[in-house]
Amino acid sequence: MYKLIRPLFFQFDPEKIHHFVTAGLKSVNKFPGAAAISRAVFSIENPKLEREVFGLKFKNPVGLAAGFDKNGELMGEMANLGFGFVEVGTVTPLPQPGNPKPRMFRLPQDAGLINRMGFNNLGVDVVAERLRRYRTSHLTPHTSNLIIGGNIGKNKNTPNEDAVSDYIKCFDRLFDVVDYFVVNVSSPNTPGLRELQEKEPLKKLLQTLQQRNRKNDISRPILLKIAPDLTNEQLDDIIEIVKESGIAGVIATNTTISREGLTSPQKIKNETGGSSGKPLTKRSTEVIRYLSKKSGKAFPIIGVGGIHSAQDAFEKLEAGASLVQLYTGFIYEGPGLIKRINQRLLRKGN
Ligand code: FNR
Repeated sequence: MYKLIRPLFFQFDPEKIHHFVTAGLKSVNKFPGAAAISRAVFSIENPKLEREVFGLKFKNPVGLAAGFDKNGELMGEMANLGFGFVEVGTVTPLPQPGNPKPRMFRLPQDAGLINRMGFNNLGVDVVAERLRRYRTSHLTPHTSNLIIGGNIGKNKNTPNEDAVSDYIKCFDRLFDVVDYFVVNVSSPNTPGLRELQEKEPLKKLLQTLQQRNRKNDISRPILLKIAPDLTNEQLDDIIEIVKESGIAGVIATNTTISREGLTSPQKIKNETGGSSGKPLTKRSTEVIRYLSKKSGKAFPIIGVGGIHSAQDAFEKLEAGASLVQLYTGFIYEGPGLIKRINQRLLRKGN
């Protein structure tokens, strides 16, 4: 069904169609009975799909990756489409407009996207308030058990020396309304951000957040989201830092700056930004496998990058991921992909 309407969607600018579709989803879900129909068509509820990871109970292991619901508007709608968890953000302390448009490009021949959104978001105060309202008013038995992650970053104008205080502001503000945190230091679209993946700044950032986390009566799992462009030596450093700081795990991976293997026209390949989708499938699975093996499965990994089929998801889980997330595959394949992955897991007993 989705494959029939996709050519129509793909006629339009990708960012415009994103807003159109999300606004449509929100409107449709307001009609009585629409949420139930959405669940009946797309969602699978089965105790065999449940996963307990870093102390949280996920109703199924398929989540929506960061960047799709940057401002925390679509949690109920995404739960009704069958996602087990949704990662909101990346959120920054202050609202910011992101990079000039156009900033998202399709690579139809490669089933991929290039984006340089640049953390466009409404700022942590607005997002925290939305999540608070969602948690207190919107809940049905089907949406209350949705796990919500808060993906946090720094404002573009904050120099890297002061980055820690941006992450702390977001952490403190979202603490009561999210189930887990993701420290995003791997987006290629905020100048200098990826330098925070270097050993010393990363240690300082994660240790500071984790100390703050431990001061609270309850603590939240903190995960680190990494780029697929790291070398094995850098991945070794990541393993060491994750273990040392005691954070809960890793999300592998963000988008790549590589254009290797793309067959789309040079003009699109030349667009600055991070590439996602099928061209990323193999590399992100390699990163998951490396981290899992080399660390001796010391921490859970959420696998993301180029999942366009149940088989892709299965390979990430086999490589060592405990959960998976979708973004580009969700755009190319539609919401049916979530169900197909969960059905496959039920068949395989994974
Ligand atoms: C992203 N991604 C992303 N990641 C993140 O941590 N914070 C963000 O704000 C965004 N924003 C964003 C926007 C767009 C348009 C895309 C396509 C992607 C990265 C995303 O969460 C995921 O890690 C990668 O896209 C790889 O997965 P897929 O897309 O290949 O399934």
